[in-house]
Amino acid sequence: MRYADETGPDDAAGTQHGSRRSFIRSTSAGVTAVALGASVAASAGPSAQAAEAAAPGARRGTRPLAVTPACSGQETPASIEGPLFKPNSPARSDLITPAIQGVRLDLSGVVYDTSCKPLPETLIEFWQCDQNGDYDTSGFSLRGHQYTDSRGAYQLRTIIPRDYWGRWGQRAPHIHTRVQASGGPVLITQLYFPDSTQAYGRDFAALNAADRLLNRACTISLTGQEGGRYTGAFDFVITTTV
Ligand SMILES: [Fe+2]
Repeated sequence: MRYADETGPDDAAGTQHGSRRSFIRSTSAGVTAVALGASVAASAGPSAQAAEAAAPGARRGTRPLAVTPACSGQETPASIEGPLFKPNSPARSDLITPAIQGVRLDLSGVVYDTSCKPLPETLIEFWQCDQNGDYDTSGFSLRGHQYTDSRGAYQLRTIIPRDYWGRWGQRAPHIHTRVQASGGPVLITQLYFPDSTQAYGRDFAALNAADRLLNRACTISLTGQEGGRYTGAFDFVITTTV
């Protein structure tokens, strides 16, 4: 069953983090990065771009694996929640079940506050569609919540979701998230994939370019595709005061 995503009312609800302006700013930054032809570096942030500039051989087949970007102190841009969030998801960091047959993704990262202090015990919700572009609205497949550990870190075992058509047109593959430190506001956003991602025979560059909601600042840094699975990194920066 295929469901339309990201309805109008949820657009308003999804900006409770108050980051609509930062979303616009970051989108502009993403466009600039694309114009420079540095999509992967852009996904990894300025520090990765600087590292790449310092390694002239990086584009000649000896390029080192992407690194997790250093904390910038800039809030992770918010996005819309869409209509398919379900409360009371299971507490789990492994979303792989026998029915899930997509391209595997091991995602990890750290949640920081705006002074770049790691935030332990921070709630993170993930929800996404499956390898066919379908969301589970009757159960909790590919849905789960977890808390960051004592280092502010999280880990997620999942798959790269498929693109799908919805209210906002064709959506590039993305993972929905909600992040909230205890007593703080909720950051609602969506994570995307680099143009070079290979999954389901899809052209991620074209899908990313056509997605009206995509924000390059929320691109996961992917490394390898060893054994049919990717390793990804994404750090969140959130505010902790309402
Ligand atoms: Fe979605």
